[in-house]
Amino acid sequence: MSSTFGTCLRVTTFGESHGDSVGAVVDGLPAGIPLTEDNIQTQLNRRRPGQSAITTQRGESDSVRILSGVEGGHTLGTPIALVVANGDRRPSDYDSIKGIPRPSHADYTYKVKYGVCASSGGGRASARETVGRVAAGAAAEAFLRERFGVEIVAFVSSVGGISASTPMLDGADSAASNAISQNSIECIDLNTLTRGMVDAYPVRCPASESAKAMEAAILDVMENGDSVGGTVTCVCRNVPAGWGEPVFQKLEAMLAMAMLSIPAAKGFEIGSGFAGAAMRGSEHNDVFVKKQNGLGTLTNRSGGVLGGISNGEPVYFKTAFKPTATIGSHQTTADYEGNDAVLKPTGRHDPCVVPRAVPIVESMAAIVLADMALAQNARMR
Ligand SMILES: Cc1cc2nc3c(=O)[nH]c(=O)nc-3n(C[C@H](O)[C@H](O)[C@H](O)COP(=O)(O)O)c2cc1C
Repeated sequence: MSSTFGTCLRVTTFGESHGDSVGAVVDGLPAGIPLTEDNIQTQLNRRRPGQSAITTQRGESDSVRILSGVEGGHTLGTPIALVVANGDRRPSDYDSIKGIPRPSHADYTYKVKYGVCASSGGGRASARETVGRVAAGAAAEAFLRERFGVEIVAFVSSVGGISASTPMLDGADSAASNAISQNSIECIDLNTLTRGMVDAYPVRCPASESAKAMEAAILDVMENGDSVGGTVTCVCRNVPAGWGEPVFQKLEAMLAMAMLSIPAAKGFEIGSGFAGAAMRGSEHNDVFVKKQNGLGTLTNRSGGVLGGISNGEPVYFKTAFKPTATIGSHQTTADYEGNDAVLKPTGRHDPCVVPRAVPIVESMAAIVLADMALAQNARMR
């Protein structure tokens, strides 16, 4: 149960950080969807450790194998099993934390819950588990792209105190309403943003000045044996109106659940989010206008969702990630017995998780949207 997500599309992930392998089983995708190992590998490469100087240097190729459910480059409609071997295993890196739970990591709670701990401390709490999510997300995305033309793009919108952008809530025209800007020079347009534009920067913020400042901030914490948090913003375009299952599986509720299930995620907001709480209805309401496929809205402070159901406008949301728990400097804490202890972890860790969280956010968004698409398809009308 706890490792399975979704109702019509069910994704189960498996594997520990320093065990033999990690992966996912995807059940419920229709037959006939074009899907190859290469499609999946493209997204896994964007999540992979060691891809730049500002990520963990764990050396994994993360090569995916499709074990079932695909033949001749197309899905069979049967369960798709995806597996990735753990190549660069070093459980000994975790010797220094054997008796001492890492502050703000999951070592303590896993021990309390299961009575035992995997050799890699966090075990399933490690971001290594998200390999399965990204592989499964690529399959879900192939379905969404083929059947509906859905496009999903995420990017780093802040690192520490450096923000690339905030939603432009006062846009008076529809082109501007989905654009987010830090200032007049740097403007990230959610209508036209591509993964290529995002990946042009190692930090995955497609605004050059902000990207430079963010990268410097990450290098600074690395040098000082510390870490820093940040946010990832995601836009899903061409989502048809009508997706989302009120009242408990509302689209934004499922997106929030999916995002908050990502390791280190601590906050979620959709559309105007928390900023909307400071506004008046007269400023905040998205008035309707006639558009090509029925009604649209002039602005999009709702983030493309009304009453838990997509309204045909782009769905956009933001997820906040805390600073990486495992840091290079000494921390005074307590061991499992409650005695004073000093922790100096060894091993390879991300100084900031958000650049690598980008494809994970996209993948979880794809899994939610594919589940909602299948649920809507199952309705008799
Ligand atoms: C892409 C990514 C990479 C991560 N890398 C690390 C890491 O190198 N070291 C670490 O301590 N935590 C890392 N984390 C976060 C931990 O997995 C997470 O904080 C921990 O399991 C505790 O869970 P919680 O923060 O959700 O409560 C990473 C998370 C993500 C999304």
